[in-house]
Order: sequence, then structure tokens, then C-alpha cells
Amino acid sequence: MAEEAQQMPRSSYLPRRVAMRGLAAAGAAAMLRPVGAIARPGTIITRPIPSSGEALPVIGLGTWITFNVGEDPAARDACAEVMRHFFDAGGRAIDSSPMYASSQPVIGHGLRKLGRTKEVFSADKVWIRGGSRGPAQIEQSRQYWGVPRFDLMQVHNLVSWEEHLPALLAMKAAGQLRYVGITTSEGRRHREIEQIMRDHPIDFVQVTYNVLDREVEARILPLAQERGIGVIVNRPFRQGVLIRRIERQRLPDWAAEFEAANWAQFLLKFIVSHPAVTCAIPATSRVEHVRENMGAARGRLPDAAMRRRMVAHVEAL
Ligand SMILES: NC(=O)c1ccc[n+]([C@@H]2O[C@H](COP(=O)([O-])OP(=O)(O)OC[C@H]3O[C@@H](n4cnc5c(N)ncnc54)[C@H](OP(=O)(O)O)[C@@H]3O)[C@@H](O)[C@H]2O)c1
Repeated sequence: MAEEAQQMPRSSYLPRRVAMRGLAAAGAAAMLRPVGAIARPGTIITRPIPSSGEALPVIGLGTWITFNVGEDPAARDACAEVMRHFFDAGGRAIDSSPMYASSQPVIGHGLRKLGRTKEVFSADKVWIRGGSRGPAQIEQSRQYWGVPRFDLMQVHNLVSWEEHLPALLAMKAAGQLRYVGITTSEGRRHREIEQIMRDHPIDFVQVTYNVLDREVEARILPLAQERGIGVIVNRPFRQGVLIRRIERQRLPDWAAEFEAANWAQFLLKFIVSHPAVTCAIPATSRVEHVRENMGAARGRLPDAAMRRRMVAHVEAL
């Protein structure tokens, strides 16, 4: 099932600052070092958000479907356990959307239960037609999460982006948000995404990228580096289809060279070793999986030659 299939509810930009360019250039220069040099054993791998320099762990947590568990207290507590292991492993960025039904209140339940509201990097979306309806939706989402303000607010799938984007940038200027972004997935509307990246001072773009879906490597990832825009990667496991298919195969011995102990870490380390990527947001409902996934934010990362080998290997499976 694709997100696009979900039912939609009815419903004076300044040039980019020179300082932001400087930070982006410094970040890009740092990323030109051999990727394996970024991580020290035992420390979580982070990337600077290009527009601010703030460090963000390279693995976050998605919540589409996996956290849409409704009102059931046991199911909500199970999601809170996933969040506990995520935070305990050093995770920060959690991504949600009004499209994900009960996921937002379930995140709020977890944050309150764990007392981790101050640790989360809250990334949500506005997903409603018509700019005038955006603020009420964002406020409802904020109440679900129980955060004082969102760190990142993204225009989901570019819905009414011409109206929402100026409003989000005004909220950021007023201190009501910290970062502004746009999202798409599975290659949709990439030309429009590129144009927005060129014309508007967004902090983040969210796109699909994984070892088999590499369309963004050609234009969007280089453009993000050039413009100093952070990249959040969705569908790292093709919504689970990719990992379920390949985990029947033996993990190659050479995965040990970049300290991938399982297929989840193999797939995630491929993504976050791209120098344009800020973080990937795999979704999971299971503690053992969040632990595996967070393991991808530690140890060595593959270099460019190894990344080519990883692509060839998975394509041949
Ligand atoms: N347009 C947009 O803005 C957009 C579009 C798509 C996605 N997103 C965001 O990106 C997030 C990630 O994308 P996604 O949820 O579509 O798919 P995904 O993260 O590629 O895959 C999630 C699936 O992978 C399984 N999984 C997770 N970790 C695993 C592991 N270590 N081993 C084996 N299986 C594992 C999960 O099952 P278990 O529960 O069994 O672990 C789940 O079924 C979303 O949740 C959402 O936040 C945004």
C-alpha cells in the first residue's frame, strides 16, 4: 500500500542566508572525508542539520502503520517500549503525520509515559487541503504529541504546499517551529520537489531512498548538498517488503567490514553513508527490530567502493 492511496481530509522569501551556506559548505566538506572516519566505536553517529549545525542521530523512527494501534492500552504500551529502546540507544527524531491516524496520540502517550518529551526531535507534517486549515491541524497534532512546539513541520506529499509553506516559514520566524520541510515518497513529483528546493529556504526534504530505489542520487541528493538542505529518508526497507525478501539470504561476510551484524544494519548503513543524508526513519512495532535498526547508527560505515558492492550484491539476490 502506498501512502498516496490514503484518503485526504476535506477540507517574501529571503535569499538563503550566507551563514547557512557556510555551515552547509563546512558540513559538505566534512562529509567528503572517508565515511568510515565519521564514527568512533561506541558513539552514536550524527550528522549536522545543514541550516543550523545541530547534530542529529542518523537513525530516527517512522510511525506510519506501526504506531497506528488505536486506543488499546497494551498496544500503546508496546509502542512506548519501542520508543524507550529507541531513546535508550540514542535516538531522537520521530516522524509522524495526521495521515497516520492514531500514531500521533500514541507517540504522545509514549512520550508522557517515558518522560522523554525533552529528548525527542519531533518531526510532523501538515496534510490538509487549503492553507487556512493548516494552523488548526498543526495545533491538534501538537496537542497529541504533548510537545511545546514541533522541531520540524513538513508539508506532507506537497499537499497545498503553495499555501502551507509560507505559513510554516512564518511560524519558524516567530519561533513556533524550528525547521521547515517538504516530503514525498516513491519518486513522486521529484521535479516539483527540486524546484521548491531551489526557490524556497526549506531546512529539510524527505524522500524515498534505499539500496534498490536510488533515483534521488542523480539530482535531489546533490541538490540538497549544494543548497544546504537536510535529507530525511523514508521507506528504507520498502515498507518491510525489501528486508523480508532479503533476510532469507545469508548476510555476506564482508558486511563485517562496516560492522553490519544483520540485514537491517546492512540496508540502513547503505542509506546513511550517503553524504547528503541526514537521517533515515525506519518504522517498527518491535523492540528487537528497533534495537537492530539503532545498531546502524554505530560503528564503521561503508565507503563509496563498498556502497557499489552492496548495490551489486542486493540487485543480484
Ligand atoms: N510521503 C511521506 O512523507 C512518507 C512516505 C512514506 C513513509 N514516510 C515515513 O517514513 C517511515 C518509514 O517508511 P515505511 O513505514 O513506509 O517503511 P519502512 O520503514 O521501509 O518499513 C517498515 C517495515 O519494516 C519492518 N521492519 C522494521 N525494522 C525491521 C528489522 N530490523 N527487521 C525486519 N523488519 C523490520 C517493520 O515491521 P515490524 O513492525 O515487524 O518491525 C515494518 O513493517 C514511515 O513510517 C513514515 O514515518 C513518509
